[in-house]
Amino acid sequence: MLFKWDETYEIGIIEIDNQHMELFETANKLFNSSKEETLENAKEVLDFLFKYVVNHFYIEESYQLEHNYPKYDEHKKLHLNFKKELEEMKAKIEANPSPENLEFLYNFVVSWLKEHILKADKQVGIHILNNPCY
Ligand SMILES: [Fe+2]
Repeated sequence: MLFKWDETYEIGIIEIDNQHMELFETANKLFNSSKEETLENAKEVLDFLFKYVVNHFYIEESYQLEHNYPKYDEHKKLHLNFKKELEEMKAKIEANPSPENLEFLYNFVVSWLKEHILKADKQVGIHILNNPCY
């Protein structure tokens, strides 16, 4: 089933929220491409997803630094671990782009994002809104 965005996932920082939406949309594209007869699209979507994740983490971490987020190191580690896992799965799918592998990746990305946003990014949002920098 495709992921459907709702305001539960908003952290209150528009740039970050928009990027999270784009990430979920890309994950949905990955799911759709796993249903296509040829899996040619999947590689392109996967490349985009990986680059987008790297850029998104960089921006999110920059926000944290800018606002002196006290749990920056801990949060950065979560990003790094996800990036590593995503990189491994990307290699696996490039070697064998089966619908099963793509669906597995879709589930992994969506469930990680949901949990990460609700448990970790929400705290970042609260901190930034309470500690604006001018
Ligand atoms: Fe994050």
